[in-house]
Amino acid sequence: MVMEKLLSKNKIRLAPMASITNAPFRQICIECGSGYVTTEEIDSESLVKNKSEKTKKIIEYYPEQKPIAMQLLGNDANYLSEASKILQDIGADIIDINMGCPVPKITKKGKGVALMKDINKTAKLINHIRKNTILPLTVKIRSGWDQNNLNALEFSKMLEQEGVDAITIHPRSRLQQFTGMSKWEIISEIVSTVRIPVTGSGDVKSLSSAKSMMKKTLCNSVMIGRGSLGNPWIFNQQYLNLNDMQRESYKKNIINKHIDLIRIFFNENQLDMQIKKQLSFYAKGFKNAREFRKNLFNSKEEIDDLISFFFIEWEKNSKILAQI
Ligand SMILES: Cc1cc2nc3c(=O)[nH]c(=O)nc-3n(C[C@H](O)[C@H](O)[C@H](O)COP(=O)(O)O)c2cc1C
Repeated sequence: MVMEKLLSKNKIRLAPMASITNAPFRQICIECGSGYVTTEEIDSESLVKNKSEKTKKIIEYYPEQKPIAMQLLGNDANYLSEASKILQDIGADIIDINMGCPVPKITKKGKGVALMKDINKTAKLINHIRKNTILPLTVKIRSGWDQNNLNALEFSKMLEQEGVDAITIHPRSRLQQFTGMSKWEIISEIVSTVRIPVTGSGDVKSLSSAKSMMKKTLCNSVMIGRGSLGNPWIFNQQYLNLNDMQRESYKKNIINKHIDLIRIFFNENQLDMQIKKQLSFYAKGFKNAREFRKNLFNSKEEIDDLISFFFIEWEKNSKILAQI
């Protein structure tokens, strides 16, 4: 019931993305209208053994971001349970386990989507974490390991049986990584089989495609990942009702606020790169986006000059930008 309540508030929300969905970006997406947000993946063993500066930054959040889900990676029941407790103590409202990460560095260690290869073993893992956390427990999966092992349905049944409160499915296999289109039919199959809420993820590029995913698959909610990059207003239900001028000033305010949040959040070593990264996303729609991005990353100019330059380019492209 807790999950149903959390999910019913706002059914379209930001997907976790490593090195991207940090506190400033999550905040911007919430302000644009995203439902509850999830941190990027955090390795449970690293969290338990030595909280590095990088890990500390991943789990930092603003009070306005509550309720917040925090996502763990791992394949060891003790580390995952211990890490869940640490996250609970710092204020996590939901523990999400990433069983969908396809990155070879992770799967080689038996983590991420590699956990989908052995259902019985993963059932024991989930059982252990379930017994050790009182928080809602959710799991994010893929369609399976490869074309010959598309076991998301069976896997989802196991997750429900072991007491998981909700599932997110990105219906691509590990082998597909991010290629091709995600198979929304797999979302439908899971929805019609389990009784716990199911969130769909994959290739949602607009609010209307989010609604279409919900209509076609009957999933409870939708996550948007890549479609939100440089485009956090994707979560704003009112955005399409704005006229060109209103859109432009709304977007500029968001971008400026995002830059301000980054300036406060990151230390000097990370600041310039973080701002450059976001400006390169916001250059989506620039006529010369590719060249702009290349110059941005190669430039040795002060970051404030680069921000001014970004807005000059923005003005030049404003007609195109108002349409998207
Ligand atoms: C750069 C990048 C990083 C990602 N990192 C994570 C992650 O940390 N945890 C996770 O569960 N999924 C992660 N994902 C997967 C997304 O959450 C999402 O399921 C996937 O991108 C499909 O949705 P989309 O088409 O809306 O991007 C990542 C995806 C991208 C592109």
